[in-house]
Amino acid sequence: MSHRSNRTVALTSLGCKVNQADADEWVRGFLGLGYQVVPFDEVADAYVVNTCSVTHVADRKSRQLLRQARRHNPAALVVAAGCYASVAPEEVARLAGVDLVVGREDKPRLVGLVHGALEGAAEQPREAAAELRLFGGRTRAFVKIADGCDKLCAFCIVPYARGRARSLPFADAVAKVRGMAEAGYREVVLTAVHMGTYGRDLSPAVSLRDLVEAVLGETPVERLRLSSMEPEDFDPDLLALWGRHPGRLCRHFHLALDSGCDATLRRMRRRYTPAEFAGLVDAIRPAVPGVAITTDVMVGFPGETDVEFAESYAFVEAMGFSQTHVFKYSPRRRTVAAKLPGQVPEEAKRERAEAMLALAAESARRYRAGLVGSTLDVLYETRVEGAERPTWEGLTDNYVRVFVPSPAPLANQLLPTRLVGEHPEGLVGSVAA
Ligand code: F3S
Repeated sequence: MSHRSNRTVALTSLGCKVNQADADEWVRGFLGLGYQVVPFDEVADAYVVNTCSVTHVADRKSRQLLRQARRHNPAALVVAAGCYASVAPEEVARLAGVDLVVGREDKPRLVGLVHGALEGAAEQPREAAAELRLFGGRTRAFVKIADGCDKLCAFCIVPYARGRARSLPFADAVAKVRGMAEAGYREVVLTAVHMGTYGRDLSPAVSLRDLVEAVLGETPVERLRLSSMEPEDFDPDLLALWGRHPGRLCRHFHLALDSGCDATLRRMRRRYTPAEFAGLVDAIRPAVPGVAITTDVMVGFPGETDVEFAESYAFVEAMGFSQTHVFKYSPRRRTVAAKLPGQVPEEAKRERAEAMLALAAESARRYRAGLVGSTLDVLYETRVEGAERPTWEGLTDNYVRVFVPSPAPLANQLLPTRLVGEHPEGLVGSVAA
């Protein structure tokens, strides 16, 4: 019996790149079964919302997307997967319009479960064959090398949503990157909840540095990016690889700071001090010239006083991050911080977030302005919708979005580009002759 389908499916993913990597895996599975993958706002036979629960705003957005899916096609199968669906399956199942909730244990079987629900249980394939071809105009592939987290930071719901840390076997991780590169992806982004501990649970134990070296040595991947690192797990030997593979390793480190105040970090149960974080940044910058250091900062953690916030603000200012994701603390079920005294009023959180966002925008602008006049390779992704003249956008290795007017299509081309001016979301460029 053939399991190929003529059906359509639409997927959307909230939250982080690890969630995106899960959704990409499902897209490949659906393509392997013959599904047509359509944009989320079109009519489809099934909708998969890969939810996030990092804040209460993420929960709300997840619910909105599930409702939208139902509105797009009242007769469709609407599936909730991802972190919100994993931490609050009953709450999500009760939402009007949700037909199927896929929690964290069942994520690897999601494609089969959806196919089975659409075609009847008899048609359910054991597993969907992943199809490693480019989809949706994407030029960057997200490869999840590890899931879960053992750290239990006071505010974080992720260990409950994703379970304990577990690494993809070494050979499988290398093979996955090779498959993506051979399928035509020019950039591969390694993702994990806790990237720096990759391989410690494997037997024999390996390190992230071992994996990066193997990927660069044994696969044709043109560009490799690491999505996010915990400051305390940063391996100084890893840095040496940037000197040995210039051009292939993206000059971009995402180091989650969370707060620049020592006392707040301790209450958060983070495992580094601002001084240690600054020491790491001081080691990275000379080793990787032009590097982009991006971060996450939380405001309004329980007990954060005006003085503590001011300390955090000053530290962020001093670091000169090239991008900062600012978010307001929101109590998450089952976490230690939800029960801490000194919950910060919403109004104060809002004011602090606004101040931090303004600082983040200025710091990002300053970093980008420093690149004007230089020529960098840009990996072009898509045509900008609604632009007056045909314009293409893409990313430099140091994570700056570049916009280039061009009548010729540039998608999936990696081209030296002269950076000529500022743009509200990045820089304006012109493809170098
Ligand atoms: Fe959200 Fe889960 Fe990622 S909570 S940020 S999607 S790990």
